[in-house]
Amino acid sequence: IKKIGVLTSGGDAPGMNAAIRAAVRTGFYYNLEMYGIYRGYEGMIQNDIKKLNSLNITHILERGGTFLKSARSEEFKTTEGRKKAYTNLKNHGIDALIVIGGDGSLTGAHLFFQEYGIPAMGLPGTIDNDLSGTDSTIGFDTACNTAIEAIDKIRDTATSHDRLFFVEVMGRDAGFIAINAGIGSAAAAILIPENKTPIESLVEKLKSRTKAMKTSNIVIVAEGGKSGSAQEIADKVKKYLPYYDIKVTILGHLQRGGAPTSFDRLLASKLGVAAVEGLMQGKYDVMAGLINHKVVFTPIVKAIVDDKKVDEDDLRVANILST
Ligand code: F6P
Repeated sequence: IKKIGVLTSGGDAPGMNAAIRAAVRTGFYYNLEMYGIYRGYEGMIQNDIKKLNSLNITHILERGGTFLKSARSEEFKTTEGRKKAYTNLKNHGIDALIVIGGDGSLTGAHLFFQEYGIPAMGLPGTIDNDLSGTDSTIGFDTACNTAIEAIDKIRDTATSHDRLFFVEVMGRDAGFIAINAGIGSAAAAILIPENKTPIESLVEKLKSRTKAMKTSNIVIVAEGGKSGSAQEIADKVKKYLPYYDIKVTILGHLQRGGAPTSFDRLLASKLGVAAVEGLMQGKYDVMAGLINHKVVFTPIVKAIVDDKKVDEDDLRVANILST
């Protein structure tokens, strides 16, 4: 391997820049040429590819977002799109890829490897934490911290007015942010996509907490949950508790931004180094992750298909602490 292309794809995540920097610096350390592929697979198709030098990656470790930019490419899902992308890579002489992103992005890397044999290494870059083969994905810790900071502020005003807040957090089909932020902010209840919480049991819980003189309550709702959106749940609960002043806050994309935490910087740095060294050792079509502080390479198909389960013990802890 002589020339490695690096790209970020899908939803950006804090720590992606740190991962790019680590991969590129490691490439230079081993005298490889490193290429930035801009706007993910979209840029690969449109030939938005540039050779990187050390100045390109100076002072990016501490910045949120991704300086390579990101996109969700529909064209790459087609065989014609992937053919164009392959031709561009060949013209640049790029002989390996590092793809930083979530399950959709890693699926793309796997497909590309299957079709064209381009050695591909995935890095888990998503705030959702929904990839197997790593204890945490790059950006998850930062997103949880951001959510908790925001919920703490909501707590101040909720307490001042004795209000009930429904706070919607991100996580598409996964409840990891909701559970982490919910436990960390002493939420009254946490509703996640993996479980369906009957409205009646939520209402009973809120009633018993009100009796226990807990006049402000915060319920965390993961987007895409089976019980409905935060607004839908709030509307239903209002019918049972008409006397309660209820508000809804959707944290949204603020959870995707911001400087990465120390945890995410370390994770991204270790995985960036592992990505290049793994490729040099012939590890292809795998994702580098960190399990119990050790680098582990998991076949991409396993990382994306083996749905990581929310920790039952986390749910138990959340329940004990909110009863
Ligand atoms: O996958 C990361 C994520 O932030 C999800 O939590 C969320 O559902 C989705 O991306 C939002 O995507 P977009 O920014 O394209 O609206």
